[in-house]
Amino acid sequence: MSPFQITRTLPEDATDAALRADVRHGLTTTPKTLPPKWFYDAHGSELFEQITELPEYYPTRAEREILTTRAPDIATATAARTLIELGSGSSEKTRLVIDALTQLHTYVPVDVSETALTQAGQALIAERPGLHVHALIADFTARLELPDTPGPRLVAFLGGTIGNLLPTERAEFLTSVRALLSPGDALLLGTDLVKDEEILVRAYDDAAGVTAAFNKNVLSVVNRELGADFDPTAFDHVALWDTQNEWIEMRLRSRTAQTVKIPALDLAVDFTTDEELHTEISAKFRESGVRNELAAADLHLTHWWTDEAGRFALSLSVAR
Ligand code: AVJ
Repeated sequence: MSPFQITRTLPEDATDAALRADVRHGLTTTPKTLPPKWFYDAHGSELFEQITELPEYYPTRAEREILTTRAPDIATATAARTLIELGSGSSEKTRLVIDALTQLHTYVPVDVSETALTQAGQALIAERPGLHVHALIADFTARLELPDTPGPRLVAFLGGTIGNLLPTERAEFLTSVRALLSPGDALLLGTDLVKDEEILVRAYDDAAGVTAAFNKNVLSVVNRELGADFDPTAFDHVALWDTQNEWIEMRLRSRTAQTVKIPALDLAVDFTTDEELHTEISAKFRESGVRNELAAADLHLTHWWTDEAGRFALSLSVAR
């Protein structure tokens, strides 16, 4: 059997149907909202890669620092033979974990992008002969059917992407992750931490304007996929810190009163001057909160690692 297999659990047309539903619902409710998953077409993914290299955007470097230092501890603590990575993207940082997991039998990257999965999977196999890669084209927030591979299992969800979910969505998500695990299996979770407002806001409103372009890219996605006529220059990028909820919010603020047509949905959407379209929340965490949210899903925190500067955390929790 080929060491690289790919399984599509997401029907070819599911993405288009989901986009239509999200845009119709999100642009006809108050406040207007679009989910952040629509940032990531080829151009948006490229912009995100650029964000990870910005001086202001520390999470990627901080998480890489932790993975570099702690990969041997992760290997010892989990002895994982199957590594499942949710939202794997380029799998760049995960390589640090894969390289340390000497007992690893199968790597299961899960992503909606077939291109990213194929590229990352092939590269990995070339470098690590004997390793099986079984990629899943799937939405990680949906129920997953995992291949039958040897345990112990380690599920990795890195980058702080869990912060894009609302608290109720996070609870649901962690419960669905727990359902994939047997006693002794583990979850490796990346979470950005609460810190100075100035540092947080700068990370989402960089001087070079890359995050602004990334935010506005969602409008280009809707234009291309649904024939809409959004003018990205007619919106301003907004990043703000919500002190109560301890999350960053990204919004697009309409510079004028304008009407946007979305032919594929037979929809016209009015914006008033300064009306804000909500595009992303990125929650920031504290150790107690992460511990409690994991425990509520029957996952028990065993390790909490931060970078030297204490900006970002990786936690390891186990199913008992
Ligand atoms: C990839 C979801 C972790 O929330 O920090 C970066 C996405 N948004 N800049 C984050 C993002 C704006 C990022 N995650």
